Amino acid sequence: MNSQHPVTIAPSILSADFADFGREIRAVEGAGADWIHVDVMDGHFVPNLTFGPATCRAIRPHITTVMDVHLMIAPVDPYIDAFAAAGADRLTAHLEAGPHIHRTLQAIRAAGVRPGVAVNPGTPIEAVFPLLDMVDLVCVMTVNPGFGGQSFIAARVPDVARLRAAIGDRPVKIEVDGGIAPDTAPGVVAAGADVLVAGSAVFTGGSADDPAPYAANIAAIRQAVAQRRA
Ligand code: DX5
Ligand code: ZN
Repeated sequence: MNSQHPVTIAPSILSADFADFGREIRAVEGAGADWIHVDVMDGHFVPNLTFGPATCRAIRPHITTVMDVHLMIAPVDPYIDAFAAAGADRLTAHLEAGPHIHRTLQAIRAAGVRPGVAVNPGTPIEAVFPLLDMVDLVCVMTVNPGFGGQSFIAARVPDVARLRAAIGDRPVKIEVDGGIAPDTAPGVVAAGADVLVAGSAVFTGGSADDPAPYAANIAAIRQAVAQRRA
């Protein structure tokens, strides 16, 4: 069903220069990024730390596309209003982050932000099916969250197809996150993914001073997807 739709590319600034987010964001948007994916990690839900709402607020003015915030934190609910106030367009919380996912998703929508649910590779995809009327996006993790540059877990691809079938006509996007590159993107798009998060595959080889590689890397992902469709 996605055969005619352009795929959305969401570079993750986890692979950008943390001392230069503003210029990195402008560079990667100029290189063709559709969304900016912002990975928030708490050192508890995942074994790594990044940043919180203050950094999101600081980078917000540099984003002209969509600020797609992936919350790898537990608990989630105490921080929703802060991330909403920081300017997130989308807030995606993990199914595994707590026992009350409906409450979390309702709170995100009540804060005026588009809610998404992310699901780890070890969680059966069916676990998100009861949530499909509450979310704008499902983020299917194809690595265990916490770090950029990990290997793509190919066993997740058939689950993307099953999720696409379960979504049916609902206006719910499928985002795939982890190990996305020209070799892995075509398969997940063929299975039904709409949004491709890519960190290392986009930011490799370039910089804010030399963004040409960013454009080439994004173009390579788009071209690989187009070739598979042709
Ligand atoms: C992983 C993050 C991803 C990560 C992807 O925990 O949620 O968004 O930045 O990085 P790559 O594309 O390098 O796998
Ligand atoms: Zn992410």
